[in-house]
This record gives sequence, C-alpha cells and structure tokens, in this order.
Amino acid sequence: MHPLEQLRQFARQLPPAQGVQLERLARELEGERGALKAMQAIGIKLSRVRDAFDVLTLFQDVLAEALSLMGAGRTALALLSDGELRVVDSRSVAGDEDPQVSKTLLERVLRTQQPIITTNVQEDEGLNMLASASILALDIRSVLAVPLRSRDAVIGVLYADTQFIERVFTDGDATMLETFASQVGVAVMQARALQEEHDSFVTLVRVMLSTLDKRDPYTAGHSERVGLYTQALAQRLGWSASDQERALFAGRVHDIGKIGIRDQYLEIKGPLTLEERAVLEQHTLIGFDIIQQSGKRLEAIAPVVRSHHERWDGMGYPDGIAGDEIPLLARMVGIADAFDAMTTARLYSVAKTWDRAFEILREVAGLQFDASLVEPFITAVKEQRVANEVDRINRTGELELLALSA
Ligand SMILES: [Fe+2]
Ligand SMILES: [Fe+2]
Repeated sequence: MHPLEQLRQFARQLPPAQGVQLERLARELEGERGALKAMQAIGIKLSRVRDAFDVLTLFQDVLAEALSLMGAGRTALALLSDGELRVVDSRSVAGDEDPQVSKTLLERVLRTQQPIITTNVQEDEGLNMLASASILALDIRSVLAVPLRSRDAVIGVLYADTQFIERVFTDGDATMLETFASQVGVAVMQARALQEEHDSFVTLVRVMLSTLDKRDPYTAGHSERVGLYTQALAQRLGWSASDQERALFAGRVHDIGKIGIRDQYLEIKGPLTLEERAVLEQHTLIGFDIIQQSGKRLEAIAPVVRSHHERWDGMGYPDGIAGDEIPLLARMVGIADAFDAMTTARLYSVAKTWDRAFEILREVAGLQFDASLVEPFITAVKEQRVANEVDRINRTGELELLALSA
C-alpha cells in the first residue's frame, strides 16, 4: 500500500478533529507528489526537445499541468519577441479559444522582474488600478504571474488566475509556477538555438538547390514546385502542419543528389544509353548520403530522397522495392515529380497541359503510382493557391534565367 493510503487509513481511525487534520495533510502531500511527477515528466520531455515543434508541445503540457495542479481557471504563456510581449499559448478550464489576459499586468512582471501573487484581485488596490477593466469584467479572484528567466534576462511571463471561484493561490503555488517557468525558460532558449541552426541549414540547402537549378535552366524551379505539390497533397491528406512542412522540405530536396552528377550527363537531350542512365540514377543514392549526413533532424527524409524514383509495381530504382515498401512520402514526391516533369518544357520534350498530365497520372495509377494517392493529388493541385504559387515560382525562375544570360 502506498504510504499516502496508509496515512489516510490511519486518519480514519483517529478522533474526527485530528483525523480531518491528517486527511488535509495527506491531500497536500498528494498534491506535492503530483506536482513533482509532472515536473519530472516535463524535465524528461525537455531533455528530448529536438525542434521548435517539440517546444510548442512542451508549452502546452506545462500550461495544462499548471492548470490542473494549481486548480487554476486559466493559464497563459507570454514571450518577448522583437521587444513586444505576446501571449503564445493559453489554457482555460472553460475551454476559451483565446482567453484575454491583462497585458498591463504581464508587462509589470516583465518590468519589475518580480512575481505577482494576489489572493483577492477585486480588493487589491494596486492591481485594480493597473488593470481594472479586464480583471473586473472577467470576475478574476486570484492571480499569479511569474517572470520567465533565461540566463540573466527576463524573456516572458507565466500566468495563472482563478475565475468565478473562491480558490486562492498560495506561496506553494507560486513556487510551483516558478519551477515551471524555469523549465519553460530553458526550453525557449533551446528552441531558439535549434531554430537558428535549422534556419542556417535550410538556407544552405536552398543555395544548393538554386545552384542545381541554374546548372540546368530548363528545370529551373523544379525543386520548388515539387515541394509545393507534395505539401499540397500532404495538406489534402489531412497531415499536421509540421508534417506538411516535412513534405515540403522532402519535395524540395528530392533531387539534391544531382549536385554530384557531372553536367555532361544532365545535358543529354536524346534517349539515354544504359551507361548514361546508370550514372543519372545515381542521384538517388548520392542524395540519400547527403541528407543522411545532415544531422538527426533529417534522418526521416533520407529514405524519401532515395526512393522517389521507385514505382508501385517494383520496376523503379535504385532498390526495385514495390507497393507499401516504398515510404509513403516517397510515393507522394514521386507523383509530384512526374507531374512537374510532364507540365514543364524539358530539353527533350514540350510541356503538357495540366489536364493531359492528370489523364496520364490516372492511366498509370496502380502501375507507376500508388492509386490511392492520385485522386487526392489531382484535387490538391487544382486549388487556386497552388496555381498562384506556381506562377510566383515561375516568375522567379525567369528572373534567375535573365540573371544567368546577362
Ligand atoms: Fe529525381
Ligand atoms: Fe525530380
């Protein structure tokens, strides 16, 4: 039996006055135990943060835990960005989409770098003067707001309040919220460092891709468009925002291995000899190596780059895998790639209309492509947004060509 349960049993045997006291003590201990467990769980997640998306999930966890452990009505997290304090996430028992939090109050915590704890806002002169309108309107009883520190600077505020109910925050709640705030502070710094690293990597990849496009002006914008089509399909399939981002990236980098293929092979106009074909097909394996060596974040993309020329019937390359063996995202990129190749002019062929390309995709569904993806793909790229984006990419492509010939 857990010691807390033993304590409770003991409490039941005592005379009522002491029993009640002991029962209250057991409840407090249980609360602290819950808080400790939550903080441990968040600490573990914190050590596993790999990208900005993990950090956003961590924010949600912290706000939800703070809400339930402190018996709060609402919790919110505000971060300083470009000199302005913005609420980046919030939770409320009532399920409000966008709970209003007093900005004046948050800014005071930021300015003074001191926590605010008040047991009765409605009677707190100083606070009422500060933010009377919003606080009175929302019938807020108790407010707790602590600064979010990262090294020496305050970078935001973690906030909790109780609405409509008599619950008031205690010093114990303040300590708990401060512990959460320090965890969030570490997460934010980690997220910013990861984001910077990621941004510079993405810039490097884009420079590589535009170099690739410039070597082969007829395919200018190919990487960008394949990224766009793959992302549109992912959206159509109901993928999350971060998975759509992954789809966009995979589409953009699918041909990155062409960097390692000599120009003379990329420029061949007519039918390919067996040897030429073998050299060109190497771009899947070269791309796989490049992406695999680019860090843990991109691990999942490497097999997509490798398999974007596989076919549903197993007649593709480099591994000749078939059906579900081909990673889903690679099957998606494969369709996007073929669609773009058909609808743009190449050295050896003229551009087909979109409708003709749709017909061809339908004809080879189940042979070359996963049949379950073809219709969603067609619906996805017919969206006006996609057409507008293609226009934009093509215009930029033209500018690049002009710059090249100048
Ligand atoms: Fe390719
Ligand atoms: Fe391609």
